[in-house]
Amino acid sequence: MCGITGYVGNRNAVETVINNLKRLEYRGYDSSGVACLTEKGLEVARAVGKIANLERVLDGHTPESHTAISHTRWATHGKPSERNAHPHRDSAGKIAVVHNGIIENYAELREELISEGVVFASETDTEVLPQLIARELTRLSTQISAESFAHAIRVALSLVRGSYALAILCADLPDTVFVARKDSPLVVGVGEGENFIASDISAVIRYTRNVLLLEDGEFGIITPDKVTLLKLDGQIVAREIFRVTWDDAAAEKGGYAHFMLKEIYENPRTVRETLRTRLLEDGTISLPGVPFTPAKWTSFKRIAIVGCGTAYHAGVVGKRFFERILRRPVTAEVASEFRYGDPILDAETLVILISQSGETADTLAAMREAKSKGATTLAVVNVVGSTLSRDADAVLLTQAGPEIGVASTKAYLAQLTALSLIGLYFAQVQGATLTADYAVALRELPSLLERCLQKEPEIIALAEALASSSCFFYLGRGYDFDTSLEAALKLKEISYIHAEAYPAGEMKHGPLALVEPGVSVIGFCTQIETEEKMISNLKEVKAREGTVVAVLREGAKNPDCADYTLFVPGTLDPLMPIVSMVSMQILAYHVARLRGCEIDQPRNLAKSVTVE
Ligand code: F6R
Repeated sequence: MCGITGYVGNRNAVETVINNLKRLEYRGYDSSGVACLTEKGLEVARAVGKIANLERVLDGHTPESHTAISHTRWATHGKPSERNAHPHRDSAGKIAVVHNGIIENYAELREELISEGVVFASETDTEVLPQLIARELTRLSTQISAESFAHAIRVALSLVRGSYALAILCADLPDTVFVARKDSPLVVGVGEGENFIASDISAVIRYTRNVLLLEDGEFGIITPDKVTLLKLDGQIVAREIFRVTWDDAAAEKGGYAHFMLKEIYENPRTVRETLRTRLLEDGTISLPGVPFTPAKWTSFKRIAIVGCGTAYHAGVVGKRFFERILRRPVTAEVASEFRYGDPILDAETLVILISQSGETADTLAAMREAKSKGATTLAVVNVVGSTLSRDADAVLLTQAGPEIGVASTKAYLAQLTALSLIGLYFAQVQGATLTADYAVALRELPSLLERCLQKEPEIIALAEALASSSCFFYLGRGYDFDTSLEAALKLKEISYIHAEAYPAGEMKHGPLALVEPGVSVIGFCTQIETEEKMISNLKEVKAREGTVVAVLREGAKNPDCADYTLFVPGTLDPLMPIVSMVSMQILAYHVARLRGCEIDQPRNLAKSVTVE
């Protein structure tokens, strides 16, 4: 968690790193800071809160510098405060470090350094790094050079356990930024006579599309004209330039009030792009990024789908769909639980890992667990070049483009679309003929989603009616229950209203006790098989004076128990979660807006959770 940027070249380095850092604010916004090299030596500025506060601290006076690093933080060790904000320095103030990740053994290292007389200035795990580097430089007692400094960093890294992406400056080494990576992402944007460093590509593409992706255990020395990548043992690494194809405009708000709203409006395009080249003219499916032979596919006796948050909710839909069409046992599990549950994994298991960022620590850990037990891993991932996309055995890239709003929207639809394609492809390999109906339905989805978006004015009126509710229940059966899970998450994370999803039939086994005036209940009645039963459940809610909103397929009868209705276009039952979710994203967005919430950056959350 946290975002890093760095720069060396002829531009104003502080302005450049701070502008680029704004692209990474979704990764954390508890505090931010910048360090730069000037004629005076190493200068640092830090502020609690968002990057705007850091700009206020600088008050338009950016130091004259051509080498800088910066950081936006999501606190793990030490509360959000100026002294815990990065960059952190050694006691002499000559070395500055920004860090994304966690140093697990920092407490023991800190004790050791304290016993040697080092005085710490923060409560963070990160501060041990500049102090360890400084100690090693003292031990070397040679003139500081790029080589000796690199050596000191490598010694320091050999002492730490945990994860890190690092950018480091030394007051005695102008025009040089040192970087390192282990289990946290870091890229170098390669320019002409200048180079950029960032936690992800979106922060550098306005300057360059030529990117070097650091891998775990690598270390870099970056000057304006040269990027030297090495292994921690000093061996030089030859890395090919990765050419980014998406453009900078895709990472901007494009006239919408919030990234989240822009991204909701990108749903139809996202689904269309995710289907492109995979759903063929003749209605069959092709998965070019997944090089398994038919024999390999049919060797999978079990499937485990793993992800966190929204990605997990996509997996829950995938499980239901796969079991129905493949008749093979499938589990959907939260990645943070998967590893510790001693999952049954072997060479006959396919583990599908879902992630927008491809950097979620728990999902990466689940992938490693699966691989170590001999299972085959397939990543459904949005960010090209992310760790998951590189390390899984096979990859299906969702084509959502950059998702900046912390609340995941278009990525969820892309994940559902990708899972439909995987399930149908597997069925096709098994010889099933069901793909024809699905091909028609999938192709029709983008236009159905456009129709959902046109209902925004109606949904705004609904949001106005519900925004003061004390609590929300989202109810459904089957796929509608799966939709409830994600709809409730969307509302709670951005509006801060307590929202809970329940299988509708379970309400009378406990939660019904909570229903009273002021409680809103959204009931999804889109599944043909269970529509009537759902309506009976909603009547039970109405009888307890809850506010009932029924979500129905267009053409369905208006149930008299509903205070409000929302009609969504109908499609095949398993694809209804894709259609229903757009209205729920719009509803959550407007409820949060009416309550004055920080939509793109909800409190306590960050877009990419790179710590366990
Ligand atoms: C919710 C949300 C999170 C993410 C989760 C996984 O709106 O965005 O629940 O879905 O943190 O992130 P990725 O998909 O990047 O692995």
